[in-house]
Amino acid sequence: MRHDTLTLLGLTFLGASASPTFTPSCSDVAFDIPVVSNNVAFASPPDPNNTADIVEFMRAIWGGATPATNGTLTISDTFTIRGTYCRPRPGNGTARSPPKGLQILVHGITYNKTMWAGEGFPSYDWHAFAAARGYATLALDRLGHGANPQRPDPLAVVQPQLQIDLIHAIVAAARDPSDVLHSVLGDGDSPATAFSKIVVVGHSYGSYLGAALAAQHPADADALVLTGYSGYLDFTDVIEADWVSAGVWRPDRFGADLPKGYVTMSNPAQRAAAFFAGGYDADIPPVDFEGEDTLTVGEIGALGAILGDAVGYVGDVLVVTAVEDAFFCEPPLEKCEEHLRQTATSFPDAKSYDYFAPTNTGHDLTLHHSAADTAERIHDWLDEKL
Ligand SMILES: *[C@@H]1O[C@H](CO)[C@@H](O)[C@H](O)[C@H]1NC(C)=O
Ligand SMILES: *[C@@H]1O[C@H](CO)[C@@H](O)[C@H](O)[C@H]1NC(C)=O
Ligand SMILES: *[C@@H]1O[C@H](CO)[C@@H](O)[C@H](O)[C@H]1NC(C)=O
Ligand SMILES: *[C@@H]1O[C@H](CO)[C@@H](O)[C@H](O)[C@H]1NC(C)=O
Repeated sequence: MRHDTLTLLGLTFLGASASPTFTPSCSDVAFDIPVVSNNVAFASPPDPNNTADIVEFMRAIWGGATPATNGTLTISDTFTIRGTYCRPRPGNGTARSPPKGLQILVHGITYNKTMWAGEGFPSYDWHAFAAARGYATLALDRLGHGANPQRPDPLAVVQPQLQIDLIHAIVAAARDPSDVLHSVLGDGDSPATAFSKIVVVGHSYGSYLGAALAAQHPADADALVLTGYSGYLDFTDVIEADWVSAGVWRPDRFGADLPKGYVTMSNPAQRAAAFFAGGYDADIPPVDFEGEDTLTVGEIGALGAILGDAVGYVGDVLVVTAVEDAFFCEPPLEKCEEHLRQTATSFPDAKSYDYFAPTNTGHDLTLHHSAADTAERIHDWLDEKL
C-alpha cells in the first residue's frame, strides 16, 4: 500500500515530457466485502501440491479443453479488496467540479493494480490521463493479488465468479450513498462521491471479467472499455511459457507459504515477447518482469464458466486491442480490425459498439509509446457516450 502511494507521488519527480499536464489526487482504499459466490467444483482437480500437475491443467485449458466439473462450490466469506482511488485534482483556484464518472480498472493475469499507474513510468499513468480528462479512477487488486492481505485457496476460491461478485459489490457501493461500503470513496477532505456514471475498464483477463459482469449484471456499467481483448484467441505464448509456483520460485518476494496454485512466469524473454511488441521503452520489460504478480489455477480453470455473450447489456462498448497483440489480434491492421468487428457479436444488445486497434503496439497497450494517443481516443469516446 505504502509502496503504491510512493510510486504515484514519485511520478512528479521523474518528469518525462510526454507525461500528462495534470496529476490526480490519489489514495489507497480498502473494501471489506461479504460475498456468497457459486464457484466451480472440479471433478478431476490437479494435485494442489504438484506444480507440474497444476501447469498441465492450465495448459490444457489454454489449448481449448474444458475441465470436468462437479456442480458448484458455494464460497461464503468476507474478502478485503484494495484499490488505488484517484480523483481529478481541484483546479488552480477554481472550484472542484465533480468527476464525469468513475472508471473501475481491472488488471490482467500476472499483474496487479500498479499496471494502471504505469509501473512507476510516469508517461504511462492511466490515473493521470483520466484525471486530466475529468474522470475518477479506481484500480482494484483482484482477490489473491497485489496488496490484498488474503491469499485464499487458488483453485477452489480464487475463481472468476468470485472476482465478478466482488466487483459487483464495489459498483453498488460507488453508486449508492446508503451502501455500507460507500464511504470508502471519500478522501478525508470531501465526502464520498455517489457516481451515476460507471465505466468498467478491463485489461485482458480483466476485460473477460468486465464482459461477464455486463452479462450477469447488465445495469452495473454504463460503458465497457475492454482492452487487450477480443473474440479471437491465440494462447500459444502462454501455453509455451515456463510457469512456476511463485512461492517456490521466489520465496523472498512471494512467500514460501504461498500455495502452489499461485503461478507466474520465470522467463523474462518469454514475458517480454508475450506482452510487448513494436514501439515501447526498452526499460519497461525488465521492470515489468521484476514486478510481476501471479495468476491462480482457479482463475484459468473456471474461466469457461463465465464466458458467453453479454445478452441484455444495453450500455456502450469500446474494444481496444493492439494490432501486434500476441493473444487477441494479429497483423496487419485490416486483419486485426476484422477480429475486433466480429467481437461485436458478444454484445448483441449494446447501445453502441466501437473498436480501435493501436498500431506498432503489443498486448500491454497502456505501456507502449502509443499509450497517450490510446488514452486520448478512449476519453474522447467516453465524453461522447456518457
Ligand atoms: C461430486 O460432489 C459430490 C458432493 O459435493 C461428492 O460426493 C462426489 O464425490 C463428487 N464427485 C466427483 C467425481 O468429484
Ligand atoms: C499438500 O501439502 C500439505 C503440506 O505438506 C498437506 O498438509 C496437504 O495434505 C497436501 N495436500 C494434498 C492434497 O496432498
Ligand atoms: C490555471 O487556470 C488557468 C485558467 O483556466 C489556465 O490557463 C492555467 O494554465 C492553469 N494553470 C495551471 C498551473 O494549471
Ligand atoms: C504488484 O505490481 C507491482 C508493479 O508491477 C510490483 O512492484 C509488486 O511487487 C506487485 N505485487 C505483488 C504482490 O506481486
